[in-house]
This record gives sequence, structure tokens and C-alpha cells, in this order.
Amino acid sequence: MDFQLCSSVSSVLNFACISMSKIYCDNAAGTPVADEVADYMDKIQREIFGNPSSLHRFGQGALAVVEKSRRQVAITLGCSPGELYFTGSGSEANNLILRGSLKPGDHLITSAVEHASVYQTALELRKTGVAVSLLRPDSTGKISVEDVGAHIRPETKLISLMLVNNELGTLNSLKELAELAGEQNILLHSDAIQAYGKLPVDINNPKVDFLSISAHKIYGPKGTGAAFVRKGLKLEPFVYGGGQEGNLRAGTENVAGIGGFGVAAELICYGRKMLTNHLKQIMESFNKTLLDLKIAYHINGHSAIPGFVNITFPEISAETLMINLDLMGFAISAGSACSSGTLEPSRVLREIGMDSSEAEKTVRISFGKNNTVEDGIALARAIRKIIERITKQEVISNG
Ligand SMILES: Cc1ncc(COP(=O)(O)O)c(C=O)c1O
Repeated sequence: MDFQLCSSVSSVLNFACISMSKIYCDNAAGTPVADEVADYMDKIQREIFGNPSSLHRFGQGALAVVEKSRRQVAITLGCSPGELYFTGSGSEANNLILRGSLKPGDHLITSAVEHASVYQTALELRKTGVAVSLLRPDSTGKISVEDVGAHIRPETKLISLMLVNNELGTLNSLKELAELAGEQNILLHSDAIQAYGKLPVDINNPKVDFLSISAHKIYGPKGTGAAFVRKGLKLEPFVYGGGQEGNLRAGTENVAGIGGFGVAAELICYGRKMLTNHLKQIMESFNKTLLDLKIAYHINGHSAIPGFVNITFPEISAETLMINLDLMGFAISAGSACSSGTLEPSRVLREIGMDSSEAEKTVRISFGKNNTVEDGIALARAIRKIIERITKQEVISNG
């Protein structure tokens, strides 16, 4: 039994190692875990095994990890620890906020380019009697504040708009949205999962009522997210059955994941300016090499995120490019990696007016702190090589 378990675990690890790309450029999908985070989590897993709800010192040790992390993450957002609720992912934080704040008869304003965890939740809520306005973006993926204003009705309870779009990197005007929501006495939620750790995120500037973040976008572990809920606002519980997370989410806490989230938050928020400069340099070298090599491309959206670009290569399909790059040791995303495994034309790209043939040639490249300027150059060169090879093959096969 032990032997079987070991061999199956090692085969998974072997697969991961064999298939691991050497140059990872898909940090918007998930970042590598920082060493400091991994070390701390390992220590927790081995040594701090008590249940945070237990009153003995083992339990209280685990509770101390959870509460320390709550303080670490809260500081980075400018909220008080009591306003922060840990969840099992960013998607869950979005679900918690939407499902917990809306009831039949309420009206929600959101957009057609939200992450699926907001978009699909809105569609489900619609079935239960919540009225939903799905606003359309402009050609960069941005939602117009005037359009939001025009859709407000007496029953409008919540505006939920992402801070930065996860496929395009385009930034919404949260300041104006917050002013509008404040004037009209409407609650405002922003999914800041893609922005957090890359851009300044402060719950009071602009003032939001709810905000969602996720650990695995900031060099923390997968499977841990958090929802900011402004003091005084009441949400319906998301998971019933225990008093954890202020009665909103029952279940024994993921102590190591939460602990890792705290360390990651501290690291990324203090190192953000340096990381921004580093990522800008990588992107410049990537863009310059594309131009030098005369590769045809165009950029979509208006990425506000350093090191992040949504880009169309008209000479090659995204799928072919991604697979060939993978074979050469580079990881990028064809479409949004969040709807994992699917190579369906992206809803977001369709919404900004792209036809399906262009969308099929569009990829997202997102550099991270482990990348170097040389990685940017090497990636552009690899793209050139693949395009050359594919176009030659096409010429040969067309006779
Ligand atoms: C904007 C946005 N919202 C939500 C999510 C989902 O977060 P998680 O993967 O933690 O569930 C993502 C993931 O990429 C995202 O980019």
C-alpha cells in the first residue's frame, strides 16, 4: 500500500518535472510560490497541526497563524483584520460577496467581461429573481461609468466590476465608480484578484464595500483567497456548519495556506515598486525583439499591469503557438487560463469586438518576478522560429 502510494506520488512529480517549462510566462494564471512562503507553509504543515477552533495550546498556535496572516493581508489593503474573511479561492470570495449580499428583487450591475466567478454567479442569481444588468465594454475592455449610471434603478443594490481585466489587463475607473456608488447609496464590489500585488489596492482609496483577492497571483499558495467586507455590512453565510470566518464560511481553516498568504502579501506589497520596474524592462525587451525580428502582431486592450500583454499574432493560431512554445520550454496562455483547459473563443475577446478567427490567434503573456530580461528576448525569438517553421510547412503542404 505504502509502495503504491509512493510510486503514484512520484509519477505525478516526474510528470510535473518533465513537463515543466523552463521559462514560465503565465504568471497571470498563477505565480510560482515564493521560497519564504513555501518554507513557512512547510513548517506549519509539520509543526502547527492543531485545529484553530481548539482551546488547547496546539489549537491556539494554529489560530495565531491564521490571525497573524489576517493582520498581514489587512495591512496591505488598508482594512482592519476584522473586515477580512479567508476563503478557499478568489472565485469563492467573489461568490461569497455576490451570493451573500443579493436576494430576489435586488438589482445587480456587472459586466459581460467579468471573470467567470462573477459572470456565472450573476447568471445563476438571475435565475433566483435577482435582476442583472450585464454591461458591455468598449474596445479595450473598459466599462463606462456613464453606462453604469444609466443602468441604476431604485432596486440597484450592488455594482460589481473588476479592477483589472484578467485577459486584457485593462483597468476600470474605480475612483469614478466609487463616487457614483457613494452618491447613489449603492454597494460597490471590485474583483481585484488580477490587480492585487501589481497595482496599489486600498479599500478606502477609492472606497469600496467589498473586494476580492487571491493568494496564488502573488507568489502565495493555490486554494486561498480573501474577501474584504466593510464593517457593518451583513452577508449571508456561504458555508453553514461552524463559526469560522465570522460565521460566513464554516470549515476548519487551511492554516498553512492562510499562513502562506500572509507572508506572500507582505513580500509582494513591500517589493511591488521594484518588481514593477523589473517587469517593465522585461516587457520592453520582449516588444523590442518582436519589432527587430519583424514579427507581425497587435496588442489588445490597455494593459495596466506591468509585464502583462494580450497579443494577436495574425500568422499563427494561439493553440499551435502555445503547444510549440511548450515543447521549447516556454509557458504562455492561449486565451484565459482561468477557464482552464478550454480553447473556446474567449467571451472577453468577443465582447471587445474580435471575430473568432482573430481571437483564435490571440494569446496572453504575463511575466513574473522569476523572469529575466533575457527571457523576454528568448520568448520573442522562439515565437519567430515557430512562425517561420509553421508558415514554411504551410507553403510546402499547399504545394
Ligand atoms: C480577475 C480574476 N477573478 C477571479 C479569479 C479566480 O481566482 P482563483 O483562481 O483564486 O479562484 C481570477 C483568476 O485568474 C482572476 O484573474
